Amino acid sequence: MSTTLDVSRRAAAQAQPNIALIKYWGKRDLRLNLPVVGSLSITLDTLWTRTEVRFDDALSADTMTLNGKVDAKQLKRTSACLDLLRARAGVTSRAEVISENNFPTGAGLASSASGFAAMIMAGDAALGLKLTPAEQSVLARRCSGSAARSIFGGYVEWAHGQQADGEDSVATPLLEASAWPLSVAVAITSTAEKAIGSTVGMNRTADTSPYQQAWIDSQDADLAEARAAIAARDFERLADISEHSCLKMHALALAAKPGLLYWNAATVAAMHCVRSLRAKGVPVFFTIDAGPQLKAVCLPSAAAAVAAALREVPGVLNVVETGLGGPARLIAVADLAAA
Ligand code: PMV
Repeated sequence: MSTTLDVSRRAAAQAQPNIALIKYWGKRDLRLNLPVVGSLSITLDTLWTRTEVRFDDALSADTMTLNGKVDAKQLKRTSACLDLLRARAGVTSRAEVISENNFPTGAGLASSASGFAAMIMAGDAALGLKLTPAEQSVLARRCSGSAARSIFGGYVEWAHGQQADGEDSVATPLLEASAWPLSVAVAITSTAEKAIGSTVGMNRTADTSPYQQAWIDSQDADLAEARAAIAARDFERLADISEHSCLKMHALALAAKPGLLYWNAATVAAMHCVRSLRAKGVPVFFTIDAGPQLKAVCLPSAAAAVAAALREVPGVLNVVETGLGGPARLIAVADLAAA
C-alpha cells in the first residue's frame, strides 16, 4: 500500500498599510534593507491586503496573482521574500501567492507595506515556523522597509538599529490604536502607478541630494518629539512634527538630481486645504509619501468635515476615510476567496 504525503502547506493573512508620520527615506544597507534613519507610523484600519501563500512541492516555480491577475512584475520581489521564509524553514518548495488589495497598488498608499507584512505572516504559518512578531518584522523589513511596521497595529516605531546584521532594525508597537484613536482621510489624486519607486528614489537622493546628511542628523530629535507627543496625546504637537517630517523628506528628495517630484496639482491644493482648515482651528494635519495621495490625519470629531473639504478640492478623485487599525493577523483561507 502506498502512502501519499500531503505536501501542500497553505495559510492566509491580512495586514493593513501604515503611514509614516516621521518618515523613512534612505538605506544604509541595500541587501539587508536597513534604513539610514528610524521612523514612526500609524497603521490603518479599513484598507487591507489579504494574501494566501501555498507551498507545494509539485510546483516548479513561484507564482503571484494580485487582484485576480498574474503579476509578473512583482514576481521577483515575491520570490526573494519567499526565499527568506524557505531559508528559515530549510525547504525548497515553490509557492503560489494569491493577494488582494482593496485600494490602488503602487500609488503611494503603502501597498508594499501591507503586502509584504501579509505575505510574511501567511508564509510563516504555512511553513509552521512560529516566528515571533519581532522576527516577522525583521523578515518583512527585508522585503520592503515599511512592511516592518505593518506587522503591528496602532502607533509603531521602526528602529534604525546598530547591528551590522540588521537584526535590531525591527519595528515595535508604541501605543495601541484604541489608546488614542485618530482618523485618516486619504485624498486620492491619481490611481496611476508611480513613475519612480521608493528604492530608486532613495538611492538617487542619497547619491545626489545636498541635504542627505542634515536629514540623517535631525531625525532622532523628530522621533523623540513625536514619541513625546503620542505619550501626551498632544495632537497639535504631533501635527507640527509630522508635517515638518513630511515636508523635510520631500525637500530632501526634491533636491536630488534630477529632483523627485511626487506631487501633482491636486496634492498641493489638498495641502492648502488642510492648512486652511487647521488655521480655522480644525485639528488636522497632512502627510504625503512617495506618491501623489495626501493623507489628512485628524481627531475623530473632525473626520467628517475634513473628508468633506477634501472632496471639494479640484483634482481629488476620491476620499477614503479610515481609523487606526490593529496588527497583521492570520485569516481563514476562505476569507480571501470571499474578498
Ligand atoms: O519601504 P518602502 O519602500 O515602502 O518606502 C517607504 C517610504 C515612505 O513611504 C516615503 C516613507 C515611510 O516611512 O513609509
